[in-house]
Amino acid sequence: MQQKQSIGVFDSGYGGLTILKEIVKELPQYDYVYLGDNARTPYGNRSFETVYQYTLQCVERLFAMNCNLVIIACNTASAKALRNIQQVDLPKKYPDKRVLGVIRPTTEIVGKYTKTGHVGVLGTKGTVASNSYPIEIEKFFPEVNVFQEACPMWVPLVENNEVNTIAADYFVKKNLDNLFAKSSKIDTIILGCTHYPLLAEKIKKYIPENLTLLSQGEIVAKSLADYLKRHSEIEYRCSKGGIIDFYTSDSAENFNNAASLFFGQEVKARHLDF
Ligand code: DGL
Repeated sequence: MQQKQSIGVFDSGYGGLTILKEIVKELPQYDYVYLGDNARTPYGNRSFETVYQYTLQCVERLFAMNCNLVIIACNTASAKALRNIQQVDLPKKYPDKRVLGVIRPTTEIVGKYTKTGHVGVLGTKGTVASNSYPIEIEKFFPEVNVFQEACPMWVPLVENNEVNTIAADYFVKKNLDNLFAKSSKIDTIILGCTHYPLLAEKIKKYIPENLTLLSQGEIVAKSLADYLKRHSEIEYRCSKGGIIDFYTSDSAENFNNAASLFFGQEVKARHLDF
């Protein structure tokens, strides 16, 4: 029997479950390990060095659990840690392992959606400050203008289950107003944080109907499917049992209570010590 070699999916907390949900829909045959660093979440306001250290630790834990391929399903960690891990840590310590992020798949396709050439990006402070979205979009679609807005209150609203409150309306409207003040021609918005799909219905209340709202789950799932097709040397090492194991660095009980909101079905996690 083939030894279990799961695809690792990592996020600072729950947000990556919105990505895993779509990946599993697209590629149900593989085994997955999800790791949420809930004990140290949120990453959004933390320094570059801290996000890098936390992310590397989590990726290494997933490697130790026999994952050869890890998806960093967190924009903040993708923005701040992915490049260093890919360019420094993997070649030095793990030449046979691969780590992918969530920013590139979205930036590769965004130009196909915008007609005005004005794209909005909503993300955490860290993701916006890193400028990863404008830099990456420029590579694929140099003619596209990118306007960003940091929404530091959105993750706490989602994490605390305050999505259907007046407070959520207030902050969602406020940040969208700020974004459209930067350009009234925006016709495509990227939800550049894996928590934000849970606010999608609220966001739709405050944007024009014909505007395209891009959530990353499906995009990342399709991009992973394509990656595995192109990289048979990685694909053949991924075991195919359809099993998903969940781990959290915080209380498993708390995780289980909240995680189903993000994943869409019941989750039974185990605690992992760091
Ligand atoms: N889910 C993370 C992201 O996609 C943000 C959550 C956090 O701040 O830790 O950026």
